This record gives sequence, C-alpha cells and structure tokens, in this order.
Amino acid sequence: MDQRLLLMHQTMLADRPRLAAYDRALERAVGAGDVVADVGAGLLVLSMLALRHGAGHVYAIEADPETAALAAEIAQANDLKGRLTIVQGDARTVRLPEKADVVVSEMMGNLGPEEQMMEVLGAFTETNLAPGGRVVPHRLATRLAAIEFDGEGWGLWGEDFLGHRLDAVQDRVAPAAQLHFFQRPPTLLSRPVTIADHRSGDGRRPHARESRTLTVTRPGRLQAIVGYFSATLAKGVTLSNLPSYPGCNWAVWVWPLRHTPVSAGDLLRVGLRPPEDVRNVLDYRLSCGLRQRR
Ligand SMILES: C[S@@+](CC[C@H](N)C(=O)[O-])C[C@H]1O[C@@H](n2cnc3c(N)ncnc32)[C@H](O)[C@@H]1O
Repeated sequence: MDQRLLLMHQTMLADRPRLAAYDRALERAVGAGDVVADVGAGLLVLSMLALRHGAGHVYAIEADPETAALAAEIAQANDLKGRLTIVQGDARTVRLPEKADVVVSEMMGNLGPEEQMMEVLGAFTETNLAPGGRVVPHRLATRLAAIEFDGEGWGLWGEDFLGHRLDAVQDRVAPAAQLHFFQRPPTLLSRPVTIADHRSGDGRRPHARESRTLTVTRPGRLQAIVGYFSATLAKGVTLSNLPSYPGCNWAVWVWPLRHTPVSAGDLLRVGLRPPEDVRNVLDYRLSCGLRQRR
C-alpha cells in the first residue's frame, strides 16, 4: 500500500480537536436508528463516531480502492457487519439502497475548496439525502486576513535577521501561494473577510467573490495575506485551521507581500482569482492594492 496514504490517515487521526469537533456535531445531528452516509470515509473514524451516537446503519463511501479494502478489514476486525456497509466508488455517482438521514464528510482542503467537498456533497445529497436530512458540515467558507509573522515564514526576509538585512529577497516576491504551518500565531492586522462561502443546498458551485476590501485594524508591518477555511459542522460547532492548534493536520496558505508599514484604517483591496482547477492552490493568484489613510 502507498505509505503516503497511510501517513495521511495517521496525521488526520492524530488531530484530536478535529475528531472532537466531529464528535460534538454528530452527537447533535444523529438520532437513534438514523441511516448515516460517511462520504470519503477513509479508515472509518467518522463512521465509528456516527455508530457511537446511535446510527442504525452507516454507508461508508470511499473512492480509493486500497483505502476501501483496508477499511473493510477494519470493519471486520471490529465486528461491524450488519451495522456498516462499505461502498467503494466516487460518491458523486453512488446511489444508496436507502436514503440517508445524515451525511457526514471531512474533505476540507487547507484553503477550503481544494478537495471539492461541497461539490461532491452536492451531487451525493441530490440523490441520497432524505427530505429534512442533515449534512455535516453544512457550510464551508474561505477567509482571508492581513498578517504580520512572528519572526518566521515570509516574515524572515526583513531588515533585521541576526543583525543583517535580508530584504533584497522581497524583490523576488510573486503573487503565488505558499503552504505554511505556523510555529507561532501571527498578528492579525485586519479582521478576516469571507471570499467564498458554500452552504449545502446551494448547488454545486460555491459562491465566490473575486475581490474584497480588508480594513487594517492595528498598526504593524503587513507581510502577507493568509487564506484558511472555516467549516460549520453543526449549530455551534465550527472547525478551522486558523488559529492553528496543537496537532492541527492542516496548514494555511499565505500570499507573501513586500513588507509594508500599515496603520489602523488603511484599506487593502484584495483579489483572489481561482484557477480552472480548484485543486491547484499554487495557481490561485492574489492581487493586492493598499490605500493608506492620510
Ligand atoms: C481527508 S480524507 C478523510 C477520511 C476520513 N473521513 C477521516 O475523517 O479521517 C478524505 C477521503 O475521501 C476520499 N475521497 C475523495 N474524493 C472522494 C469521492 N469523490 N468519493 C468518495 N471518496 C472520496 C479520499 O480517498 C480520502 O480517503
């Protein structure tokens, strides 16, 4: 088996706040005896949570044949026969033998849309969700904010690194995205704005805006725009990769900018142009114009 796949599942299962959030959401969404569909079931962790909260039957849909075969072994080892059915295939074309009361999935990309979760859920629920059924998560938003790093990442290329200037590097800046794991929380120089927002039932295309204005809320050195997701799993239960938390399996995307001093009240017009294929985050192009308060 591809060891990178195993490592991916290992990292996701080690992200305890992720599982705790799904646990809380499924506790709210699943009623006794409900039929649950786990879309992109992987190694069945969300299916197991659904069973723990009283699901009568779980359909675990998994596109990858190797992962689905391993999931079948796990189901057998846990004596889940009769309570769980593994369906190997692309959820967009799967038709279950009965309608699901609850559909659960975790396919959020670092920015939100890269794994096409809401599109896959849109196609799946059209065919398989019972009237009045619940979808977990039911909302996926992509947010942007202006940041100053705490002496890491793109923030290193400044005027003082061990007493030397490295700011010549800033001349090489490109408006392409970098993947970043924060070691220390950045300073948010603006309130976040939502650039794409997709709710279940919206159809297959997310609602996305080409550009938004960020208002600087505190003085600092503008160094980058950060992009991250916020998923609403159930009422009162959200999951996000910013702020980062210990064990978080997601990075965030940052678009580096020339380091620029900014003051409260300055306005940043930020445009984000998605590529043809939303899976290629490196190709999301950012444009950014600063209007400084006099
Ligand atoms: C991020 S993993 C999540 C696995 C598991 N649900 C968990 O929370 O640990 C997403 C899984 O969805 C599967 N997947 C991706 N697209 C799919 C599709 N269109 N239909 C079914 N499975 C899909 C992938 O193969 C992968 O195993």
